[in-house]
Amino acid sequence: MKEISLNIQVVVKQEDELTPQEVKLVDEARRATYRSYAPYSHFSVGAAVELADGTIVTGSNQENAAYPSGLCAERTAVFYAGSRYPDQPIRRLCIAARDTNGEFLQRPISPCGACRQVLLEAEQRTGGDIEVLLYGTEGIYVIRSIKDLLPLEFNKSFL
Ligand code: THU
Repeated sequence: MKEISLNIQVVVKQEDELTPQEVKLVDEARRATYRSYAPYSHFSVGAAVELADGTIVTGSNQENAAYPSGLCAERTAVFYAGSRYPDQPIRRLCIAARDTNGEFLQRPISPCGACRQVLLEAEQRTGGDIEVLLYGTEGIYVIRSIKDLLPLEFNKSFL
């Protein structure tokens, strides 16, 4: 028998420790929460992705009365980036969320499993890491690559 340990590194930053590019992306993700369509969950998520050329694309969660038909903020942003700028790699992603009282979460929001899978393919498709910023009012988690969010992933190499 042998044991494998999988470790990820998470850097926790306060807002005044962010780089200017990170500040901008956090701001765009926070703003995107106000464009969410979440009449069922009342949980408003915003995502902002920074492309290699510096363009920022945002998305927010979009719900539907047939619940599974909605889409998370992260996939809205990543699919939009892929359809509008297919040749531009994504370099950085920030996620922010407001709770049912309209307040930004204290604890950093974490992407769902389906979004991690999609984000991973976006990263592998163009090469180069996508840095992830998970926003919370108590601190911002900075993770160097989507790979770290989805250990032992399924990807096209299995097909
Ligand atoms: N949601 C996101 O947009 N991103 C996440 O990372 C987690 C959940 C959305 C889906 C749904 O509209 C609402 O938040 C509640 O789950």
